[in-house]
Amino acid sequence: MDVFKVSGNGPLHGRIQVSGAKNAALPILAATLLTDEPVRLRNVPDLSDMRSMLEILRHVGAETTQPESGTWEIRAENISHIAPYELVRKMRASVCLLGPLVARLGKAEVSIPGGCVIGPRPIDLHIKGLKKLNCQVEIANGYIYVDASDIRGGPIFLGGRSGSTVTGTANIVMAAVLAPGTTRLECAACEPEVVDLCRMLVKMGARIEGIGSPELTITGVEKLHGCEHSVIADRIEAGTFVIAGAITRGDVTVTGIAPQLLGAFLDKLEEAGLPMELGEDSIRVLPYEASLRPLDVITLPHPGYPTDLQAQLSALMTQTEGLSIITERIYPNRFMHVPELQRMGADIAIEGPSAIIKGASKLSGAPVMASDLRASAALILAAFAADGDTWIQRIYHLDRGYERFEQKLSAIGAKIERLSDTEMPKELLGE
Ligand code: EPU
Repeated sequence: MDVFKVSGNGPLHGRIQVSGAKNAALPILAATLLTDEPVRLRNVPDLSDMRSMLEILRHVGAETTQPESGTWEIRAENISHIAPYELVRKMRASVCLLGPLVARLGKAEVSIPGGCVIGPRPIDLHIKGLKKLNCQVEIANGYIYVDASDIRGGPIFLGGRSGSTVTGTANIVMAAVLAPGTTRLECAACEPEVVDLCRMLVKMGARIEGIGSPELTITGVEKLHGCEHSVIADRIEAGTFVIAGAITRGDVTVTGIAPQLLGAFLDKLEEAGLPMELGEDSIRVLPYEASLRPLDVITLPHPGYPTDLQAQLSALMTQTEGLSIITERIYPNRFMHVPELQRMGADIAIEGPSAIIKGASKLSGAPVMASDLRASAALILAAFAADGDTWIQRIYHLDRGYERFEQKLSAIGAKIERLSDTEMPKELLGE
């Protein structure tokens, strides 16, 4: 298995380009099943999660070709309605095949995705939404069986305990675009990735009003057609690079990202005192002398502070004088990075859904274990600020969601190497 060896190497300098958004590309790939015509997608990141989704599309019968790097052409002329466990278990987001299969074929059999280290990931709202669309839904043998022979639009309130659901909204919108009648979706997720999906569906001929708001009105149409679409930039990757600049007190320009996509995140960094220059399509982080200020942050659905940038901000706050409080409202147990940061010298206490971070810690390199995608990024960011070498194991988590991570960061001066765990000193190996 691969590991990263990261050495604190001082300030990062230069320009770093953002890739297409994983969390937009996944439901967008699923949406290609909604038409028998070819769909051409650009700016698709090269990630293991994309490969898993493409494998499922091929399994149900779609033809996939890659005319050039980052571009995929998908043609789902004759497809079947079954997404089996051996493919779905690789990636939770495969649950968003439900909506397109139901809409296109009037039935779906999709395996229920397995557990997840960041906490429970229920799908009750997806099921509730489908039932409100007059589908018959049954759970048996680890599968969701949907009979949508009598699907029709109607009013749906899709909010849950933590507010809106991102893939749940994607699923119900995709199920509704071909359903007779009008669907009024309340408490829809407003994340930019959901907006990107809706824009693509409109290009395919769907009728969706209220895009970007929590209230969507979808008027069913008879057929969707092919389209060309470019996936939006990955705001979480961009935010991770902003923190890479901040934690090393570097001069880093993150390009290919509209700052508006990162409103709550940039607002918090501004409150912390990070000097930044915002362009139309770029964010420049500037060097600073005095310490940043501590923060009190709560993760919330968009436009609130994103949970997917919580772990990375925790890493930055270990370097800030004073007490920071980071409260996780989306996944209250998403603190697997904390014990690993503690091994590097961070002073963090967990109180219920909050991490209380006493900053200005002197971090030192250590062997650590990545537990999920964003935790992996947080450990690498902390390693940039640490003395000595940090060895990060289980980086396959990172490969699910960051394209060419080490190449991009090496190009702006980071010392980060991908090695095989056989090259790791034996006494440091965690397993
Ligand atoms: N929830 C329910 N019932 C449901 C669905 C969700 O109670 O039926 C709850 C969840 O337990 C959670 C909250 O609602 O507390 C939000 O979950 P959501 O459904 O929005 O999450 P998701 O769609 O499964 C996507 C991203 C995640 C990101 C979350 C929140 C994709 C493929 N995944 O997950 O991304 O954290 O939205 O923004 O879009 C990541 O990229 O690292 C990642 C985990």
